[in-house]
Amino acid sequence: MPSLDGKVSLVTGGTSGIGLAAANALAREGSHVYITGRRERELATAVQQIGSNVTSVQGDVSNAQDLDRLFAQFRGEKGKLDILFANAGIAKYAALGNITEELYDSIFNVNVNVNVKGVLSTVQKAPISRASRALSPRLPRARNRS
Ligand SMILES: NC(=O)c1ccc[n+]([C@@H]2O[C@H](COP(=O)([O-])OP(=O)(O)OC[C@H]3O[C@@H](n4cnc5c(N)ncnc54)[C@H](OP(=O)(O)O)[C@@H]3O)[C@@H](O)[C@H]2O)c1
Repeated sequence: MPSLDGKVSLVTGGTSGIGLAAANALAREGSHVYITGRRERELATAVQQIGSNVTSVQGDVSNAQDLDRLFAQFRGEKGKLDILFANAGIAKYAALGNITEELYDSIFNVNVNVNVKGVLSTVQKAPISRASRALSPRLPRARNRS
């Protein structure tokens, strides 16, 4: 029996690269997986590729309204979230010596909004249980939260 049978997962940025690979693996292991991304066509292609156990929701993780819409739909359809992979982000690379000011600015002025604010907002708004949060080294539990 697949090890994640009955579990529900969310992979932000699940249309390509690491996110798509993770979504494929989660679905294959029996989890129902939600994937997000900003581009509809890429979402449709990813859904086709994953095949079953998958729902796509279009949205930008740096946009609070998009996240609220995503989690409202999610709560309505599934309620609880077992596995969250806050993966959506943008990575740009250049070898030392080829890093231009333009490349630097495009990462630190634009991508920080996605890679930092987007990840923080996703994790903060996600309906994931406290028990699950406790398992993540990146999510320390606040002492005074109920
Ligand atoms: N690959 C590496 O070597 C590496 C190294 C360090 C860190 N990372 C990080 O690992 C993550 C995945 O990397 P990857 O190489 O697999 O990237 P990728 O192939 O470019 O995939 C990025 C995914 O995130 C989505 N995305 C981008 N911005 C988004 C936004 N604002 N809101 C919602 N979805 C968004 C993209 O879809 P749309 O464009 O349609 O939105 C796509 O599905 C990224 O966060 C990246 O920064 C990667």
